[in-house]
Amino acid sequence: MKVLFSVLLPPLFFEGLLAQCPAPSELVNDAGEKLCARMFEHSNMYFDQSCGGLYLDVKNGDDFPYMPSGCGNKISSLAVGNRCTLKVWSKSGKTGNNRSFNAGMVYQLKDFANGLFGNWNDSINAYYCTCT
Ligand SMILES: *[C@@H]1O[C@H](CO)[C@@H](O)[C@H](O)[C@H]1NC(C)=O
Ligand SMILES: *[C@@H]1O[C@H](CO)[C@@H](O)[C@H](O)[C@H]1NC(C)=O
Repeated sequence: MKVLFSVLLPPLFFEGLLAQCPAPSELVNDAGEKLCARMFEHSNMYFDQSCGGLYLDVKNGDDFPYMPSGCGNKISSLAVGNRCTLKVWSKSGKTGNNRSFNAGMVYQLKDFANGLFGNWNDSINAYYCTCT
């Protein structure tokens, strides 16, 4: 018997070759499709060396109450595309603290307060991204 099924592949972490942040206007994936955001594993105090390591591509409308496997508590910098907003939560299931990032670069998530004492470095555990 032949079973037909469809698998919704989660966006996987890709290996980034260059540690350089993309401009919001040039935020496209390898297929040339416009992205809502791209999240990176590493950051750097030298902004031109930020956005390194593995990265996660986020499309318009992507809604992840739970991070794709291996990506929870791993994001240290990010880029949001023009006319897009990335909303993030510190705990899975869209709980904990939340905040929104508009178009532009976040070179170091550690510079953004998460609650009274924490920051957003390695603290994203859910996200939702939309563009107008
Ligand atoms: C974001 O956090 C605020 C403050 O805790 C809360 O009132 C609000 O409901 C949260 N928003 C979402 C969409 O989770
Ligand atoms: C972000 O968190 C990771 C894991 O705790 C840590 O290794 C890294 O140094 C932190 N980055 C910054 C900029 O604080």
